[in-house]
Amino acid sequence: MDTTARREHWLRAIAAAADPAALAAIDTRLFGPKGEVPEFVRSVTALPKDERPAFGKAANAVKVEVEQALAARREQFAAAALAQELAGSAFDPTEPGPRAARGTLHPITIVQNELVDLFTSMGFRWEDGPEVESEYFNFDALNIPGDHPARESQDTFWCKAQPGLGRNLLRTHTSPVQVRTMQRLTRQGFHAPLKVVVPGRCFRSETVDKTHEHTFYQMEGLVVDRDVSTANLIHTMKTCLRVILERDVQVRLRPGFFPFVEPGFELDVNCPFCSGRGCSVCKQSGWIEILPCGMVHPNVLRQGGIDPEAYTGFAFGMGLQRVVMLRYGIDDIRQFMGGDLRFLRQFPEVAR
Ligand code: DAH
Repeated sequence: MDTTARREHWLRAIAAAADPAALAAIDTRLFGPKGEVPEFVRSVTALPKDERPAFGKAANAVKVEVEQALAARREQFAAAALAQELAGSAFDPTEPGPRAARGTLHPITIVQNELVDLFTSMGFRWEDGPEVESEYFNFDALNIPGDHPARESQDTFWCKAQPGLGRNLLRTHTSPVQVRTMQRLTRQGFHAPLKVVVPGRCFRSETVDKTHEHTFYQMEGLVVDRDVSTANLIHTMKTCLRVILERDVQVRLRPGFFPFVEPGFELDVNCPFCSGRGCSVCKQSGWIEILPCGMVHPNVLRQGGIDPEAYTGFAFGMGLQRVVMLRYGIDDIRQFMGGDLRFLRQFPEVAR
């Protein structure tokens, strides 16, 4: 058979293949082991020398053409199969898929994100600290020595003591990150101002009821600079509460005792439920205690490696659950850890 006859023979066979299986069989016959096509191309060696170039060229062209014909026929079958599938079912590729279920953010996360955004916009940095903390950072460094009654008031979950190491505990507040941060920054060469916020989870061995949880969230704040005063503290707290409670607020300071601040304050906000007229939430006082705070104690600055003669600072420790409860009118703190989806789905903000 000459080249033209071979070409036609093979192309006809390909065109005649009735289905993908038949086509695969032809593929094997033509190109498989001992395939007809490569064999034909190799037959060039049997020819007289002067005929070889012309034959080789023609044979190769046929080979390429047959390969292309096979591929094209394979594609035809695939397209026909898809068309048949589409015609036979109700599948509509233009229809949007089922909506994927998306979770919502926990209300504490929503408020925490807002607070962090607000504070970072005011030049604060977000700091983090360990939940398993040393006795030193949780107490001693914060001017709460071993025999101090303030230790008793924070019912601590102690970790099993490890020989040779100090005792560890589940941190009872986010305040230990104050000294951690100061120490780290002084090691790196302290540059005032230092402005940080520390949102985080804390633990106390509390009996759980409507207003107490063993696991809760705080957000610590710390500012250290030259000439920081109570006026700066009040201004910062007012700005923060205005944003988070979404209305103008009045605040007042009462003395409060915390060993790591001097003077220490309890900051109250006028009751958002009755605008200060008196109601059951504020126990008819018109005020809600919201934020313990104060001017950083010189001993604490010293523990952080900062000279209290040159610098002053203020600190605050916001109970995030309390702020969330005020913001959304939630009356039972147990809801937050309860895992009841009906509760959680009421806060529509989705993860960002
Ligand atoms: N750490 C305290 C607590 O959990 C709250 C607190 C009070 C933090 C006064 C502060 C502060 O930073 O200045 O009871």
